[in-house]
Amino acid sequence: MKARSVDFAKLWEYSVGFYGVWLVHLGRQTGLFETLASSPMSITELVSVTKTYPSAVQAWCSAAIAYGLIIEKKGKVYLKPGMKAMLLDKKNPNYLGGQFSYLALRSLEYSAFEGLFRYGKTHEMSSNINAIEQATDWDHYTFLARVRRDRKLDQLLSRGCRLLDVGCGTGSLLAKMHNVYNKSSFVGIDPSGKAVARARSIAKNKSIKIIKQAGELMTFENEFDIVYLGESLYAARDKERVISNCLRALKNGGTIAIVEGLLPESNLQTDDDRLIMGMELDFALQGYRFMTKKQVAKLLEKFSRVRFEDLGGSVYLVTATRNSFLPY
Ligand SMILES: C[S@@+](CC[C@H](N)C(=O)[O-])C[C@H]1O[C@@H](n2cnc3c(N)ncnc32)[C@H](O)[C@@H]1O
Repeated sequence: MKARSVDFAKLWEYSVGFYGVWLVHLGRQTGLFETLASSPMSITELVSVTKTYPSAVQAWCSAAIAYGLIIEKKGKVYLKPGMKAMLLDKKNPNYLGGQFSYLALRSLEYSAFEGLFRYGKTHEMSSNINAIEQATDWDHYTFLARVRRDRKLDQLLSRGCRLLDVGCGTGSLLAKMHNVYNKSSFVGIDPSGKAVARARSIAKNKSIKIIKQAGELMTFENEFDIVYLGESLYAARDKERVISNCLRALKNGGTIAIVEGLLPESNLQTDDDRLIMGMELDFALQGYRFMTKKQVAKLLEKFSRVRFEDLGGSVYLVTATRNSFLPY
């Protein structure tokens, strides 16, 4: 048989990957992975424990075995070693499960692409707060681990300081930070009514204040030691205004910390590049674009000590300091 080209193999892999995304998401959503992580069992037992439908679980198990996610041995199915950390453990640096669920949940809105291509009609990510939470858990734990390693920020937060989260979404980073740094006080702002309602329920009885507001309209002045923006700057219509409001909100010497997916500088076609360029299509549907390092650096020109740190998967932590001598 004639050997197939490298491009053929790549295309083939993409269609296999589509089912891989759904296999992982369904295994997480239905609790099949969670159940197998606690103990190996027969498929009949798995159906009974997870209260699922036998033919669906049978099909899922056959596919999950073929995809190397689970193993079958002597009538029992096992989660493959290492899978628990990557698919279920949100605090593990190699956690990928949330990304799969994000992709699967986002694809539920993709019938709207017809409108984008035919009429240029964008489609706001409306129904899917859950998708965002799945995707940003990794950001939050990675940011928290990074803050704990940073002497200045860790000490500030441990002794008690004020942190503002601009575009806090459902407030889940603030809740995580509050658990670790309970002497500090936190403010989250977000323009989405749905996200704010969820954030307020998470913030209840904690020193976390949630305000329904866009970053462009903030009027804080010299109030915060740290201003955090987690995958929210891309969504702001007037980014210059948001950043200048963040500058004003910071005390002198305060730190801005931005976590964002950033576009690659050259067309290297690594897996990281391919993923973010694929997501750029999803962003186009919502009327957004990822930014480049250059664009972020320009937005931060009134700050000092601007630093980009590659967190992996094209996600960067950008930190900078408010310099007391510069006007906002
Ligand atoms: C991908 S979510 C990230 C949420 C949160 N930061 C997290 O890490 O879970 C983006 C958030 O930015 C918010 N957002 C959109 N436009 C904004 C603006 N102009 N100012 C502040 N937040 C905005 C959205 O409502 C949404 O909650």
